[in-house]
Amino acid sequence: MGLKIAVLPGDGIGPEVTRHAVRVLATVFDGARRDVYFAEHPIGAGAIKRLGTPLPDETLHACLGSHVVLLGAVGDPSCDGLPRAERPVAGLLKLRRELGAFANLRPARCEDELVAATPYRPEKVRGADILIVRELLGGLYFGEPRGIEGDEAFNTMRYTRVEIERVVRVAFQQARLRRRLLTSVDKANVLETSQLWRAVVTDLTREYPDVRLEHMYVDACAMRLAIDPLHFDVIVTENLFGDILSDQAAAVAGSIGMLPSASIGGRVDLYEPVHGSAPDIAGTDRANPFGAIASAAMLLRHTAKMPLEATLVEQAIRHVLEIGMRPADVAGPHHRASTTSEIGEAVEHTLAELIDHRRSYHAV
Ligand code: IPM
Ligand code: MG
Repeated sequence: MGLKIAVLPGDGIGPEVTRHAVRVLATVFDGARRDVYFAEHPIGAGAIKRLGTPLPDETLHACLGSHVVLLGAVGDPSCDGLPRAERPVAGLLKLRRELGAFANLRPARCEDELVAATPYRPEKVRGADILIVRELLGGLYFGEPRGIEGDEAFNTMRYTRVEIERVVRVAFQQARLRRRLLTSVDKANVLETSQLWRAVVTDLTREYPDVRLEHMYVDACAMRLAIDPLHFDVIVTENLFGDILSDQAAAVAGSIGMLPSASIGGRVDLYEPVHGSAPDIAGTDRANPFGAIASAAMLLRHTAKMPLEATLVEQAIRHVLEIGMRPADVAGPHHRASTTSEIGEAVEHTLAELIDHRRSYHAV
């Protein structure tokens, strides 16, 4: 039986970048002689226009009936006037919740070739390799009660021990696969939810004595990220802190367009680039497809259990950077910007060669 992938290209640049992630996956499965089935479904503003809702039931059922979901981006200015619960973003949040994907993995690496695209001095950023593990289903995003009553508005931050434990375990396990430093980020000097967070994390250290743990307040973490990103290995934090810090961490990669993400731990895993739908450049072939393609690599590693192939995709990305191709967001003054299709095709071509090369090597 093959892998069933629900593809949700979404809005804006979503379809342009997702196309290349799909092609990369098709190339990998073809090379491995494994079956893969892609089926596209609407989400976001496109779904609102056609079906009146940002996450149609058919889309949700198709996702729950697949092995994995690959998403582009959602959001369109034409929906700004809608009530919050009917906007494209509400569809994405509902999808995350229904899939049960509570651990959001957001790696931010500084590729050697992109040091100059970052705002840092080279020695401050070269080699930076951070993994943010963001809790995705709790906190202010989903807490009740919430609402607006006249001139007063309120949201609720609420966490249970179970919700904290399960995401922190993922972070400890990821730290074990890396440099074994886990930074748990909270605001325990002010918030009760953070006090519980810190207590639960501390309890778990007994199970992971080989991982070095540090606690950091979120404000201190933001500053440390800005001035010393090389300090960090794995960061684990609650939903909103993780949302903010992961955009900030994008600075080490040169652009948010480079960043992939995996949302795991639930019934079905979800992969999406961290960037949004970028309606201002949609349809111009100027989007950065690396985030989407790197999300496909994460899919191969975490869900398809094809770590070797995941590495080949990452090698192909690096090779395309090495030969000097740059999407517009990281091109800088010295490179001609390549289009989305040029970059995507170069990655596909390189990947096919790497796969062929490996096959002929093994055939000897
Ligand atoms: C992200 C985005 C989303 C979030 C929005 C679009 C709801 O900012 O994936 O980081 O806040 O989770
Ligand atoms: Mg965000």
